[in-house]
Parts: sequence; C-alpha cells; structure tokens
Amino acid sequence: MKDNNITLFDFDRDSDKKTNWRTESIINKDMFLEVLSKIEGLNENNKVKFEIQKIIEVIKNPRKDNLGLLNISSNGDTAKVNKEVILEDLNQIAEAQTIERAKYYITRLKKGLTEIKTNKINDLNLNRWKEYNDILTESLWIFDKRDKSGAHNSGYWGNFIPQIPNQFLRRYTKQGEWVLDAFLGSGTTLIECKRLGRNGIGVELLPEVVEIANKNISSEENKFNVKTEVITADSTELNFKQELEKRNIKSVQFLIMHPPYWDIIKFSNNKKDLSNAKNVEEFLNLFGKVVDNTYDILDKGRYFAVVIGDKYSQGEWIPLAFYTMNEVLKRGYILKSIIIKNFEETKGKMNQKELWRYRALVGGFYIFKHEYIFLFKKVKK
Ligand SMILES: C[S@@+](CC[C@H](N)C(=O)[O-])C[C@H]1O[C@@H](n2cnc3c(N)ncnc32)[C@H](O)[C@@H]1O
Repeated sequence: MKDNNITLFDFDRDSDKKTNWRTESIINKDMFLEVLSKIEGLNENNKVKFEIQKIIEVIKNPRKDNLGLLNISSNGDTAKVNKEVILEDLNQIAEAQTIERAKYYITRLKKGLTEIKTNKINDLNLNRWKEYNDILTESLWIFDKRDKSGAHNSGYWGNFIPQIPNQFLRRYTKQGEWVLDAFLGSGTTLIECKRLGRNGIGVELLPEVVEIANKNISSEENKFNVKTEVITADSTELNFKQELEKRNIKSVQFLIMHPPYWDIIKFSNNKKDLSNAKNVEEFLNLFGKVVDNTYDILDKGRYFAVVIGDKYSQGEWIPLAFYTMNEVLKRGYILKSIIIKNFEETKGKMNQKELWRYRALVGGFYIFKHEYIFLFKKVKK
C-alpha cells in the first residue's frame, strides 16, 4: 500500500534515496498513534512526561525499541519522519507546563501524522511544514555552489543555478502540472521538471542551444514519466496558445523567464536575440512582448518568476532589473517578492578580482555581487 505520508515527506529529489538513519526514522504509524492516544488519556502531566520520554528514547536509540514503534509490519502504515523535527515535537510535549498544553501538542502531532493539509498550488503538507527545512522563505538567497548533480552542468555560459527552478517548482507547482520557460538556454528548468515530476515546455531561439538543451534534458532520468517539450522559436513572436493547443495542453501553472541581461552576454548575432537589442528601450519592448505572449496561457492565481541582473555602462549603473520588473507590472501582474541572489564567482571573475576592486575604488562604484528574482502572481484573467 502506498502511504500518503511517505509521499508527502518525500518531497524532494531525495525521495528515492534510502533512509538516512542518522537523520530519519521510519515509524510504525498505527503503533505510534496508538501510543500517543494512550498518553493523551492520562490525567497527570508527570505521567505524560514519563511516557513521552520513553518515545524520545526509542527515537534516539532505535535498537532499544521496546514499544514496537519502529516495528514495520508488511501491511502496516509507515511514515518516514525527520528525527530532529519529531524529537523537537516530543520534547515540546515533555516540557509542557500543564497537561492541557501537553495534550494540545499531542493532538497536533497526531494530526501532522494523519492529516494532509495542502493548498492549491503545491504538494507541501502544511501540517508537517517543519520538515521542509530546505525550502527558502526569506528574500536573500545565498548559494555557495551550484547543484551539479544528475544532468546539471555548468557548461552553458549564462545559465542559472538549478536551485532557482527547484525552489519555485516545489513551492508553486504540483506534480504533473505544466511549467513554461520562455528563455530555455541549456535546459536547466526542464531538467528540474523531470526530477520533480512536473511537465515542462521550453522555448529557445538558437538551434545550436536547443541541441545542447535536448542533450542535457534527455540525459536526466524520467522517473516520474513527465513530458518535456523544447520549441525552437522566437518568444517575442511565438503564438504560445497555439503551441500548447498542438500538444493538447490547456494552460500552464508556472512561468519562469531568465532572459539575456540585455547585452552583458551576447548569445548570438541573431537580430531576434534579446542580447542584440540596440538600447534598453528595445530590450524592454522585446521582453514586454514575451510577457504579453505568455499572459493568457498562465492560469489565474498562479506565479511567474523573472531572473535578471543589472548592467554597468559608461560610468553608470543601469537598473535593468527594475525596468524589467516594471514591464511585468504594467501588464497586470502583482509583485509577490523581490529576491536578491548572490552571484557565484566564475573562474574568470576570480582572476580579475583585484583588478575590479581597484576599478571600483577609482570609479566610485560597487561591484555587482547580486542579481534579482522577481516573483509575480497573476490575479486577473
Ligand atoms: C540567460 S539565458 C537562459 C539560460 C537558462 N536559464 C539556463 O539555465 O540555461 C537566455 C537565453 O535566451 C535565449 N534567447 C534570446 N533571445 C530569445 C528570444 N527572442 N526567444 C527565445 N530565446 C531567446 C538565448 O539564446 C539564451 O539561451
């Protein structure tokens, strides 16, 4: 039998990994709930503390399980729990000042093990929210290294780190939903889609880059049997709705865009490439077209992320990211968050670090160490 709780705890890419016995316990859910219910029936707080302490000992020393909490019978319900979190919950019960409080915590723990509280836009079980300690909820994102596992590689100059789509797909989509990336590049978003069980469509202008993307995406295992579609096209001109219809897809549930940061990296000589825009106005105009073209295909109530940085030119900081954000706001989306993400140091930059420091001191400016991720929500049809 597939246990719901197993699915909900296994929210990330480690889902098919073996249990890590140092950090996780597999409990016999029926037994665990039975023991908790018995404790709930006690009428003295000292007795509650005593009994809870016994459970704590079992979690800490699984070999001394005299309560049968970790006895997994073949047809019994099991739940994989994070040791640290369950110990925290149990300690909270043991340390409660009153029996009423202790019982309140016990009820809450039982609820977390039996009921799944989800919402419409993701698969997270909010009754076990403490388990998701790797889901970011603050606006400063500092990653010291890129995720290079699986098909991810840093081969494409100008790609983003996989942690970006990973965070968003887990928070803003459910398994089996559709994600669209209008500037696919080397395919990072669609690789993440495959890993997390989301379907993905990516649009990329340059055929040679599509080739790289296809190679990368196909080398990722498709363990959730999802669909990934790569379209070679100009996103400023593409009829996205028609492309979806051709594939029998009604709409998408998450949009992500990582356009060129105007001409900071020139991706090609192709005139339609946003990195060849003649000036900021043209860049913004082209980007705006992509926002227009994709508006109708995103479901109302769903999210859209834009990853972009600023530019420094002729002694002046150009707030390209904020200009770009405005193009989206003009089109009716509401802003949900501005995230600041650090720039990891590329080898090239590292070699030039001293030189840049000198230039900054002479030129009276600060060196870019961050880029932006704007998160929008579609609130109108
Ligand atoms: C910053 S990169 C995206 C990188 C991607 N996130 C990744 O991880 O590989 C921007 C991409 O947009 C593509 N591009 C530029 N203009 C485009 C257009 N008009 N339509 C579609 N793609 C375009 C470029 O070729 C480039 O691969």
